[in-house]
Amino acid sequence: MQRKLFGCFFLFIVTVFSAASQKDVPTDYLPKEFHKGRREAARALMPDSSVMVVFAASPRTFSNDVEYLYHQNPDLYYFTGYKEPHAVLFLFKDAQTAPDGSSYNELFFVQEKNPVMEQWTGRRLGDQGAKEKLGIAAVYTGNKFKEFPLDLSSFPKIIMDVLPVDVKKGRGDGDLYNLLQQFRTKAALADEKDPRLDYKAFRQITSKLRETKTPEEMYMLRKAVEISCMAHNEVMKTLRPDMSELEIQGLMEYVHKRYGSEEVGYGSIVGAGENGCILHYMENSRTKIGNDLLLMDVGASYHGYSADVTRTIPARGKFSPEERTIYQLVYDAQEAAFKTLKDGSTWADASKAANEVIGNGLLRLGIIKDKKDIRKYYPHGLGHHIGLDVHDKSEYGPLKKDMVITIEPGIYIMPNSDCDKKWWGIGVRIEDDALITEKGYELLSAFAPRSIEAVEKLMAENSVIDNYKLPALKTVQKKPF
Ligand code: GLY
Ligand code: MN
Ligand code: MN
Repeated sequence: MQRKLFGCFFLFIVTVFSAASQKDVPTDYLPKEFHKGRREAARALMPDSSVMVVFAASPRTFSNDVEYLYHQNPDLYYFTGYKEPHAVLFLFKDAQTAPDGSSYNELFFVQEKNPVMEQWTGRRLGDQGAKEKLGIAAVYTGNKFKEFPLDLSSFPKIIMDVLPVDVKKGRGDGDLYNLLQQFRTKAALADEKDPRLDYKAFRQITSKLRETKTPEEMYMLRKAVEISCMAHNEVMKTLRPDMSELEIQGLMEYVHKRYGSEEVGYGSIVGAGENGCILHYMENSRTKIGNDLLLMDVGASYHGYSADVTRTIPARGKFSPEERTIYQLVYDAQEAAFKTLKDGSTWADASKAANEVIGNGLLRLGIIKDKKDIRKYYPHGLGHHIGLDVHDKSEYGPLKKDMVITIEPGIYIMPNSDCDKKWWGIGVRIEDDALITEKGYELLSAFAPRSIEAVEKLMAENSVIDNYKLPALKTVQKKPF
């Protein structure tokens, strides 16, 4: 008995010690005051007597029993800073009374601490850790949810997102599957079309909050964008025609990680020649870029906030006359769109300005015969908001101060297009991230050159990674088929 107790005590000490002694981690995560402020701002927008419910994202299978790197539901991260799965947050418009007479206006159910599981799948905050680190007063472990005296059936409106997908039948009371089941029971939901479930209000409230950025969020975005530009610039300096698309992707992502970006904000797009005409090309399988243009739409994510930057550069360091012509058209379209940006301008203003330049340019070059055919070569929108999602939430009304958007015109001329074949295989997109200000905008990604002259000048410089040459593989030299 004594030994057992000692064992437990020892385990406890080890757990607390290991959690407290995690060394040298970043010190610039969003502070708990930020998340608290966002919950208060949400509460102010919620209708009377309502509750808002936000579930953690479901862990997703990569292969057999291996999961993808867990990615939190951005809305839950925004409101709490919690990065673990199997959790649910309740925000109440009005204060609720607990059985012991205390009052609360938010409840958070999280994973329990479990030293054995933590050795396999990583550290957990647990309820106490979440209280201390995230600054939420009423935190319980998920296995307490079933017994928790919470009657959600009396709420006229339950504001929530569509339920997480791919939720696997669980093993414990506190896992996402069971939290969802118990939520359905507590709310007495007939099904997911129950009229008390207000998905629209959830979308509106979270879009309204997330579409303008706080100073804390601007720190994250500025960092994500600068890291992305740093990667684009190093690749501009080191690119050679014998490099592969995957190698460029690797170099970019290495630079991201070198500066503390944990993930990419979206699958990196590195496409040479006609691959650059595939808008979301992510195979990156061409083994030699050769003398083609290389379109690189690669953005770092910093503490959850994503940049979105595209540069298109000539592998040989100089644009050919045709590449130069198409590139300049895209550049001019982007400049025209930039000029419209300010507090109160609209996406329509910016899109019209870019369309005018591209439409007139393609007509002038004889690539289209009618302006309405512009969509053949410029088939996407001008841009979007960025933030915790690379395509971030917004109501897409007029642009406002403190919004951060991309401006990303492009022209893509697939081989066999209905135009002179000298244009075939040219794909150009230039994508930059802009902060809307009262009088105009700030170009956050200005650090990565965009003009033809500036790109060619930087490409002529040496990179610190130029001499990073690895030997050929030794054990597998010939394929046996
Ligand atoms: N990287 C995806 C996009 O530009 O929207
Ligand atoms: Mn984009
Ligand atoms: Mn992009």
